[in-house]
Amino acid sequence: MSLNVHQVSKKYDKQIAVDAISFSIDKGEVVGFLGPNGAGKSTTLKMIAGFLTPDSGTITINGIAVDKDPIAAKKLIGYLPESNALYEDLYVKEYLQFLGKIHQINQIPKRIDAVVEQLGLGPMQQKKIGQLSKGYKQRVGIAAAILHEPALLLLDEPTSGLDPNQLIEIRNVIKSLSTNAMILFSTHILHEVTAICSSVLVLHEGKLVANEPIETLLQPLTNNLRVSFEDDITAFRDQLGELNAYVISIDKHLLVLKLDANVDIKKKIMQFAIDKGLNIQRLQTEEASLEEIFKLLTH
Ligand SMILES: Nc1ncnc2c1ncn2[C@@H]1O[C@H](COP(=O)(O)OP(=O)(O)OP(=O)(O)O)[C@@H](O)[C@H]1O
Ligand SMILES: [Mg+2]
Repeated sequence: MSLNVHQVSKKYDKQIAVDAISFSIDKGEVVGFLGPNGAGKSTTLKMIAGFLTPDSGTITINGIAVDKDPIAAKKLIGYLPESNALYEDLYVKEYLQFLGKIHQINQIPKRIDAVVEQLGLGPMQQKKIGQLSKGYKQRVGIAAAILHEPALLLLDEPTSGLDPNQLIEIRNVIKSLSTNAMILFSTHILHEVTAICSSVLVLHEGKLVANEPIETLLQPLTNNLRVSFEDDITAFRDQLGELNAYVISIDKHLLVLKLDANVDIKKKIMQFAIDKGLNIQRLQTEEASLEEIFKLLTH
């Protein structure tokens, strides 16, 4: 099971919205799709979903080309568009029944009950979609996207407008779906990406500027080690040379060292503490945040 996007480009008139991007996603992967407003995320998702035709490049899902065999491809895709257009005059279940028939799924009522339960839509069944609050409409959109158990789930800002409790629930739903599907979702909530994604795609002005596992992306910034001592270590300042490490700062109880991929500084600092009779309270690698990386990549 895989999604392959190869050298895909799209222009609106003269404006290049997506510029020769290539990436692939395999089964079990949850990929966060990031980028500033106007970067081209929605355009890319629309092309994968078959709603827009790329100017050039190819998109295949499990070997099926989206432009050559659109019906077969759409059977594999669940898509929640940014606009989340819904039939406002239908009741929630009516809408899901309609979609179930379009997708020709088996055991429609059973499947509807499952997604209604998964998305917490039970209490809203007496209302028409048009009478639902924004967050509940969003839940209906997600329910519609997953109803036919697609192999590839494309979600354009799925958690926008959700309350904090529902945010967590929807994240758990997305995570649980990943055992059987590939998931690509765009978001501006970077914390969400660290919470549920295995890897990240970052788009900037139509170009792919990062395509990596989260740990790899964060690696360049996790390069300082903060060592807190119970004792005042200023008296040992002159002996820090024994560590063969670059000292960034020293302040009474706190020593900050530069991490070096080739040297086990943690081990060295432990030995240093034992030799000098010092007590270490805490060893901490400085946490890099996705926000910092995002800024670096998209400025
Ligand atoms: N139908 C359209 N006609 C003309 N230009 C468009 C159209 N749709 C999108 N664009 C332009 O293409 C670029 C990419 O837009 P897109 O909606 O893909 O960005 P995005 O990354 O999803 O942004 P956001 O985070 O704001 O949702 C933008 O400059 C946008 O103005
Ligand atoms: Mg968008």
